[in-house]
Amino acid sequence: MDTSALKKELVELVEGASDMATLENVRVTALGKKGRITDLMKTLGAMSPDERKSAGAELNVLKDEISDLIEKQASQLKAQEMDSRLANEILDVTLSPRPERRGTIHPISQTMDELVTIFADMGFEVAEGPDIEDDFHNFTALNFPLGHPAREMHDTFYLPNDERKDGEAQKKVLRTHTSTVQIRHMMQNKPPVKMICFGRCYRSDWDMTHTPVFHQMEALYIDKNVTMAHLKGCLSDFVRAFFDIDDLPVRFRPSFFPFTEPSAEVDIGYWKENGELKLGRAPNPENQKWLEILGSGMVHPNVLRNCGLDPEVYQGFAFGMGLERATMLKYGIPDLRSMFESDTRWLTHYGFDPLNRPNRATK
Ligand code: DAH
Repeated sequence: MDTSALKKELVELVEGASDMATLENVRVTALGKKGRITDLMKTLGAMSPDERKSAGAELNVLKDEISDLIEKQASQLKAQEMDSRLANEILDVTLSPRPERRGTIHPISQTMDELVTIFADMGFEVAEGPDIEDDFHNFTALNFPLGHPAREMHDTFYLPNDERKDGEAQKKVLRTHTSTVQIRHMMQNKPPVKMICFGRCYRSDWDMTHTPVFHQMEALYIDKNVTMAHLKGCLSDFVRAFFDIDDLPVRFRPSFFPFTEPSAEVDIGYWKENGELKLGRAPNPENQKWLEILGSGMVHPNVLRNCGLDPEVYQGFAFGMGLERATMLKYGIPDLRSMFESDTRWLTHYGFDPLNRPNRATK
Protein backbone atom coordinates (compact mmCIF):
# COMPACT_ATOMS: atom_id res chain seq x y z
CA MET A 1 0.00 0.00 0.00
CA ASP A 2 1.35 3.39 -0.90
CA THR A 3 0.30 5.95 1.69
CA SER A 4 2.80 8.65 0.77
CA ALA A 5 0.24 10.82 -1.06
CA LEU A 6 -2.18 10.59 1.89
CA LYS A 7 0.64 11.33 4.31
CA LYS A 8 1.65 14.40 2.35
CA GLU A 9 -1.94 15.60 2.26
CA LEU A 10 -2.49 15.06 6.00
CA VAL A 11 0.83 16.65 6.98
CA GLU A 12 -0.11 19.73 4.98
CA LEU A 13 -3.51 19.86 6.65
CA VAL A 14 -2.01 19.54 10.14
CA GLU A 15 0.71 22.09 9.58
CA GLY A 16 -1.74 24.47 7.94
CA ALA A 17 -4.13 24.42 10.93
CA SER A 18 -3.76 27.89 12.44
CA ASP A 19 -6.02 27.45 15.46
CA MET A 20 -7.13 24.71 17.81
CA ALA A 21 -10.62 24.34 16.28
CA THR A 22 -9.21 23.76 12.77
CA LEU A 23 -6.65 21.32 14.16
CA GLU A 24 -9.42 19.34 15.85
CA ASN A 25 -11.26 19.11 12.51
CA VAL A 26 -8.09 17.82 10.87
CA ARG A 27 -7.74 15.22 13.62
CA VAL A 28 -11.28 13.96 12.97
CA THR A 29 -10.63 13.90 9.21
CA ALA A 30 -7.51 11.78 9.67
CA LEU A 31 -8.07 9.65 12.76
CA GLY A 32 -11.77 9.94 13.60
CA LYS A 33 -14.19 6.99 13.38
CA LYS A 34 -14.85 7.84 9.76
CA GLY A 35 -11.43 9.36 9.17
CA ARG A 36 -9.15 8.70 6.23
CA ILE A 37 -6.68 6.46 8.06
CA THR A 38 -9.46 4.64 9.90
CA ASP A 39 -11.19 3.97 6.55
CA LEU A 40 -8.00 2.41 5.19
CA MET A 41 -7.63 0.29 8.34
CA LYS A 42 -11.06 -1.13 7.60
CA THR A 43 -9.84 -2.41 4.21
CA LEU A 44 -7.21 -4.62 5.87
CA GLY A 45 -9.73 -7.40 6.55
CA ALA A 46 -10.24 -8.00 2.86
CA MET A 47 -6.51 -8.40 2.19
CA SER A 48 -4.34 -11.48 1.94
CA PRO A 49 -2.30 -12.19 5.08
CA ASP A 50 0.95 -10.97 3.53
CA GLU A 51 -0.58 -7.81 2.14
CA ARG A 52 -2.32 -7.18 5.43
CA LYS A 53 0.96 -7.51 7.35
CA SER A 54 2.85 -4.92 5.38
CA ALA A 55 -0.13 -2.59 4.81
CA GLY A 56 -1.09 -2.84 8.51
CA ALA A 57 2.42 -1.93 9.61
CA GLU A 58 2.53 0.98 7.20
CA LEU A 59 -0.86 2.30 8.34
CA ASN A 60 0.16 2.07 12.00
CA VAL A 61 3.31 4.03 11.34
CA LEU A 62 1.31 6.66 9.46
CA LYS A 63 -1.25 6.83 12.25
CA ASP A 64 1.49 7.37 14.87
CA GLU A 65 3.25 9.94 12.75
CA ILE A 66 0.07 11.95 12.19
CA SER A 67 -0.91 11.70 15.90
CA ASP A 68 2.51 12.95 16.95
CA LEU A 69 2.38 15.73 14.43
CA ILE A 70 -1.08 16.82 15.65
CA GLU A 71 0.19 16.88 19.23
CA LYS A 72 3.22 18.94 18.25
CA GLN A 73 1.05 21.36 16.30
CA ALA A 74 -1.36 21.61 19.27
CA SER A 75 1.37 22.60 21.69
CA GLN A 76 2.70 25.16 19.25
CA LEU A 77 -0.75 26.66 18.82
CA LYS A 78 -1.26 26.82 22.58
CA ALA A 79 2.06 28.59 23.05
CA GLN A 80 1.13 31.06 20.33
CA GLU A 81 -2.25 31.70 21.92
CA MET A 82 -0.59 32.35 25.27
CA ASP A 83 1.93 34.71 23.67
CA SER A 84 -0.78 36.73 21.97
CA ARG A 85 -2.85 36.88 25.16
CA LEU A 86 0.16 38.10 27.08
CA ALA A 87 0.80 40.70 24.41
CA ASN A 88 -2.81 41.91 24.37
CA GLU A 89 -3.78 41.75 28.02
CA ILE A 90 -1.05 44.03 29.31
CA LEU A 91 -1.52 45.40 32.81
CA ASP A 92 0.84 48.27 33.38
CA VAL A 93 1.22 48.35 37.13
CA THR A 94 3.24 51.55 36.92
CA LEU A 95 0.28 53.54 35.56
CA SER A 96 -1.23 55.90 38.10
CA PRO A 97 -4.77 54.95 39.17
CA ARG A 98 -7.55 56.77 37.43
CA PRO A 99 -9.19 59.12 39.92
CA GLU A 100 -12.78 58.26 40.59
CA ARG A 101 -14.56 61.06 42.36
CA ARG A 102 -17.01 58.77 44.11
CA GLY A 103 -15.88 59.29 47.65
CA THR A 104 -14.03 62.19 49.20
CA ILE A 105 -12.13 62.79 52.41
CA HIS A 106 -14.06 64.97 54.84
CA PRO A 107 -12.35 68.35 55.40
CA ILE A 108 -11.95 67.57 59.13
CA SER A 109 -10.08 64.35 58.32
CA GLN A 110 -7.96 66.27 55.85
CA THR A 111 -7.09 68.79 58.55
CA MET A 112 -6.14 66.02 61.00
CA ASP A 113 -3.81 64.46 58.43
CA GLU A 114 -2.22 67.81 57.71
CA LEU A 115 -1.71 68.42 61.43
CA VAL A 116 -0.11 65.01 61.88
CA THR A 117 2.39 65.77 59.12
CA ILE A 118 3.29 69.13 60.65
CA PHE A 119 3.66 67.87 64.21
CA ALA A 120 5.38 64.63 63.20
CA ASP A 121 8.14 66.82 61.80
CA MET A 122 8.45 68.50 65.18
CA GLY A 123 8.72 65.12 66.91
CA PHE A 124 5.21 64.79 68.36
CA GLU A 125 3.48 61.42 68.60
CA VAL A 126 -0.26 60.86 68.28
CA ALA A 127 -2.17 59.79 71.39
CA GLU A 128 -5.81 58.88 71.99
CA GLY A 129 -8.34 58.98 74.76
CA PRO A 130 -11.98 57.97 75.27
CA ASP A 131 -15.03 60.09 74.35
CA ILE A 132 -16.81 58.97 77.51
CA GLU A 133 -14.73 60.36 80.33
CA ASP A 134 -15.07 60.78 84.05
CA ASP A 135 -15.17 63.94 86.08
CA PHE A 136 -11.60 63.41 87.28
CA HIS A 137 -9.98 63.44 83.83
CA ASN A 138 -12.29 66.08 82.35
CA PHE A 139 -12.18 68.54 85.27
CA THR A 140 -10.59 67.71 88.61
CA ALA A 141 -7.15 66.62 87.41
CA LEU A 142 -7.10 69.66 85.13
CA ASN A 143 -7.35 71.88 88.17
CA PHE A 144 -11.08 72.62 87.99
CA PRO A 145 -11.87 72.14 91.68
CA LEU A 146 -15.38 70.99 92.59
CA GLY A 147 -17.73 73.94 92.51
CA HIS A 148 -15.23 76.00 90.53
CA PRO A 149 -17.09 78.45 88.29
CA ALA A 150 -14.95 77.46 85.30
CA ARG A 151 -16.85 74.18 85.21
CA GLU A 152 -19.88 76.19 84.22
CA MET A 153 -18.01 77.44 81.13
CA HIS A 154 -18.48 73.99 79.66
CA ASP A 155 -22.09 72.97 79.02
CA THR A 156 -21.39 69.42 79.99
CA PHE A 157 -23.40 66.35 79.01
CA TYR A 158 -23.51 64.08 82.05
CA LEU A 159 -24.29 60.38 81.76
CA PRO A 160 -26.57 58.56 84.18
CA ASN A 161 -24.60 57.54 87.26
CA ASP A 162 -24.87 54.69 89.67
CA GLU A 163 -24.87 56.79 92.86
CA ARG A 164 -23.93 53.88 95.11
CA LYS A 165 -20.91 52.91 93.07
CA ASP A 166 -19.76 56.15 91.56
CA GLY A 167 -18.27 58.91 93.60
CA GLU A 168 -18.01 62.44 92.27
CA ALA A 169 -14.67 61.73 90.57
CA GLN A 170 -16.09 58.79 88.61
CA LYS A 171 -19.12 60.67 87.37
CA LYS A 172 -19.36 59.91 83.67
CA VAL A 173 -19.33 62.79 81.19
CA LEU A 174 -18.94 63.16 77.46
CA ARG A 175 -15.58 64.89 77.34
CA THR A 176 -15.96 68.62 76.83
CA HIS A 177 -12.39 69.00 75.54
CA THR A 178 -9.42 66.88 74.58
CA SER A 179 -7.35 68.19 77.50
CA THR A 180 -8.40 64.93 79.20
CA VAL A 181 -5.81 63.17 77.07
CA GLN A 182 -3.05 65.30 78.64
CA ILE A 183 -3.88 63.71 81.98
CA ARG A 184 -4.07 60.16 80.63
CA HIS A 185 -0.87 60.61 78.69
CA MET A 186 1.12 62.07 81.58
CA MET A 187 -0.07 59.35 83.93
CA GLN A 188 1.01 56.64 81.51
CA ASN A 189 4.24 58.03 80.09
CA LYS A 190 7.43 59.30 81.63
CA PRO A 191 8.68 62.69 80.39
CA PRO A 192 9.87 63.84 77.99
CA VAL A 193 6.36 63.75 76.61
CA LYS A 194 5.50 65.21 73.25
CA MET A 195 2.08 64.32 72.01
CA ILE A 196 -0.83 65.54 69.95
CA CYS A 197 -4.29 64.08 70.01
CA PHE A 198 -7.50 64.54 68.05
CA GLY A 199 -10.99 63.80 69.14
CA ARG A 200 -14.66 64.53 69.26
CA CYS A 201 -15.81 66.75 72.09
CA TYR A 202 -19.31 67.40 73.31
CA ARG A 203 -21.10 70.41 74.74
CA SER A 204 -24.76 71.22 75.04
CA ASP A 205 -24.64 74.07 72.54
CA TRP A 206 -26.31 74.73 69.18
CA ASP A 207 -26.17 77.91 67.14
CA MET A 208 -24.43 79.40 64.09
CA THR A 209 -20.98 78.79 65.52
CA HIS A 210 -21.56 75.89 67.94
CA THR A 211 -22.60 72.27 67.47
CA PRO A 212 -23.07 69.72 70.27
CA VAL A 213 -20.33 67.58 68.73
CA PHE A 214 -17.13 69.14 67.48
CA HIS A 215 -13.47 68.23 67.14
CA GLN A 216 -10.42 69.43 68.95
CA MET A 217 -6.75 68.92 68.70
CA GLU A 218 -4.66 68.89 71.85
CA ALA A 219 -0.90 69.16 72.15
CA LEU A 220 1.35 68.63 75.13
CA TYR A 221 5.09 68.98 75.56
CA ILE A 222 6.67 68.22 78.95
CA ASP A 223 10.37 68.13 79.68
CA LYS A 224 12.90 69.60 82.08
CA ASN A 225 13.60 72.90 80.34
CA VAL A 226 10.47 73.81 78.46
CA THR A 227 9.65 77.52 78.54
CA MET A 228 7.14 79.97 77.18
CA ALA A 229 9.64 80.62 74.37
CA HIS A 230 9.16 77.03 73.16
CA LEU A 231 5.42 77.54 73.27
CA LYS A 232 5.66 80.68 71.16
CA GLY A 233 8.10 79.21 68.68
CA CYS A 234 6.20 75.98 68.26
CA LEU A 235 2.82 77.65 67.86
CA SER A 236 4.04 80.34 65.46
CA ASP A 237 5.73 77.74 63.25
CA PHE A 238 2.67 75.54 63.41
CA VAL A 239 0.04 78.10 62.43
CA ARG A 240 2.24 79.43 59.61
CA ALA A 241 2.78 75.90 58.29
CA PHE A 242 -0.89 74.97 58.65
CA PHE A 243 -2.27 78.06 56.93
CA ASP A 244 0.65 78.00 54.50
CA ILE A 245 1.43 81.69 55.00
CA ASP A 246 5.07 82.32 55.89
CA ASP A 247 4.56 85.79 57.39
CA LEU A 248 1.17 85.14 59.01
CA PRO A 249 0.96 87.52 61.97
CA VAL A 250 0.59 85.63 65.25
CA ARG A 251 -0.45 87.27 68.52
CA PHE A 252 -0.34 85.82 72.03
CA ARG A 253 -3.02 87.36 74.21
CA PRO A 254 -3.12 86.76 78.00
CA SER A 255 -6.06 84.61 79.02
CA PHE A 256 -7.27 82.20 81.66
CA PHE A 257 -7.58 78.43 81.74
CA PRO A 258 -7.58 76.51 85.03
CA PHE A 259 -4.98 74.04 83.74
CA THR A 260 -2.37 76.52 82.48
CA GLU A 261 -0.41 79.35 84.07
CA PRO A 262 0.30 81.64 82.37
CA SER A 263 -2.34 81.13 79.70
CA ALA A 264 -2.50 82.69 76.27
CA GLU A 265 -5.00 82.75 73.51
CA VAL A 266 -3.45 82.71 70.07
CA ASP A 267 -4.77 85.02 67.37
CA ILE A 268 -3.85 85.09 63.72
CA GLY A 269 -3.96 88.18 61.53
CA TYR A 270 -6.49 88.85 58.82
CA TRP A 271 -7.88 91.76 56.88
CA LYS A 272 -10.79 92.38 54.61
CA GLU A 273 -10.69 93.05 50.89
CA ASN A 274 -14.03 93.91 49.26
CA GLY A 275 -15.79 92.29 52.17
CA GLU A 276 -13.77 89.07 51.76
CA LEU A 277 -11.73 87.70 54.67
CA LYS A 278 -8.02 87.35 53.85
CA LEU A 279 -5.67 85.61 56.26
CA GLY A 280 -2.30 87.28 56.60
CA ARG A 281 -0.57 90.58 57.06
CA ALA A 282 -2.74 93.52 56.03
CA PRO A 283 -1.09 95.68 53.34
CA ASN A 284 -2.10 98.68 55.43
CA PRO A 285 -1.37 98.03 59.16
CA GLU A 286 -4.44 100.06 60.10
CA ASN A 287 -6.63 97.33 58.58
CA GLN A 288 -4.99 94.47 60.50
CA LYS A 289 -7.60 92.43 62.37
CA TRP A 290 -7.27 89.38 64.61
CA LEU A 291 -9.01 86.01 64.86
CA GLU A 292 -8.69 83.78 67.89
CA ILE A 293 -7.83 80.23 66.88
CA LEU A 294 -6.58 78.39 69.94
CA GLY A 295 -5.95 78.34 73.66
CA SER A 296 -2.55 77.59 75.14
CA GLY A 297 -0.38 77.96 78.19
CA MET A 298 2.30 76.57 80.46
CA VAL A 299 0.91 73.48 82.20
CA HIS A 300 -0.22 74.44 85.71
CA PRO A 301 1.91 72.99 88.56
CA ASN A 302 -1.24 71.49 90.08
CA VAL A 303 -1.90 69.54 86.87
CA LEU A 304 1.66 68.19 86.87
CA ARG A 305 1.28 67.20 90.53
CA ASN A 306 -2.08 65.52 89.83
CA CYS A 307 -0.26 63.38 87.26
CA GLY A 308 2.57 62.48 89.63
CA LEU A 309 5.16 64.88 88.19
CA ASP A 310 7.27 67.26 90.26
CA PRO A 311 6.73 70.82 88.95
CA GLU A 312 10.16 71.78 90.32
CA VAL A 313 11.68 69.35 87.81
CA TYR A 314 9.28 69.31 84.90
CA GLN A 315 7.51 72.03 82.99
CA GLY A 316 5.75 72.16 79.69
CA PHE A 317 3.22 73.75 77.48
CA ALA A 318 -0.11 72.65 76.10
CA PHE A 319 -2.62 73.95 73.66
CA GLY A 320 -6.03 73.06 72.32
CA MET A 321 -7.62 74.03 69.03
CA GLY A 322 -11.06 73.59 67.50
CA LEU A 323 -10.68 71.72 64.21
CA GLU A 324 -13.90 72.93 62.60
CA ARG A 325 -13.00 76.58 62.92
CA ALA A 326 -9.43 76.07 61.72
CA THR A 327 -10.71 74.05 58.75
CA MET A 328 -13.34 76.65 57.87
CA LEU A 329 -10.74 79.41 57.94
CA LYS A 330 -8.21 77.50 55.89
CA TYR A 331 -10.62 76.33 53.21
CA GLY A 332 -13.14 79.17 53.18
CA ILE A 333 -16.03 77.00 54.35
CA PRO A 334 -18.86 79.34 55.40
CA ASP A 335 -21.14 77.28 57.67
CA LEU A 336 -20.05 75.13 60.61
CA ARG A 337 -23.21 73.04 60.66
CA SER A 338 -22.69 71.76 57.12
CA MET A 339 -19.70 69.81 58.49
CA PHE A 340 -22.09 67.38 60.15
CA GLU A 341 -24.88 67.10 57.60
CA SER A 342 -23.36 64.42 55.34
CA ASP A 343 -24.76 66.19 52.30
CA THR A 344 -22.97 64.53 49.39
CA ARG A 345 -23.08 67.71 47.32
CA TRP A 346 -21.21 69.53 50.09
CA LEU A 347 -18.78 66.63 50.51
CA THR A 348 -18.10 66.50 46.79
CA HIS A 349 -17.44 70.21 46.75
CA TYR A 350 -15.33 70.57 49.89
CA GLY A 351 -14.00 67.01 50.23
CA PHE A 352 -10.47 65.94 49.33
CA ASP A 353 -9.00 63.41 46.93
CA PRO A 354 -8.59 60.06 48.72
CA LEU A 355 -5.64 59.23 46.47
CA ASN A 356 -3.68 62.30 47.42
CA ARG A 357 -3.28 62.30 51.19
CA PRO A 358 -1.02 64.75 52.98
CA ASN A 359 2.25 63.24 54.10
CA ARG A 360 5.63 64.41 55.29
CA ALA A 361 7.02 64.45 51.76
CA THR A 362 4.20 66.39 50.05
CA LYS A 363 3.22 68.92 52.63
N1 DAH B 1 -9.39 72.83 76.65
C1 DAH B 1 -9.58 74.21 76.25
C2 DAH B 1 -10.99 74.41 75.73
O1 DAH B 1 -11.62 73.46 75.33
C3 DAH B 1 -8.60 74.61 75.21
C4 DAH B 1 -7.20 74.66 75.74
C5 DAH B 1 -6.71 75.82 76.29
C6 DAH B 1 -6.39 73.53 75.72
C7 DAH B 1 -5.43 75.91 76.79
C8 DAH B 1 -5.10 73.60 76.25
C9 DAH B 1 -4.63 74.82 76.77
O2 DAH B 1 -4.28 72.55 76.24
O3 DAH B 1 -3.37 74.87 77.25
O4 DAH B 1 -11.45 75.49 75.68
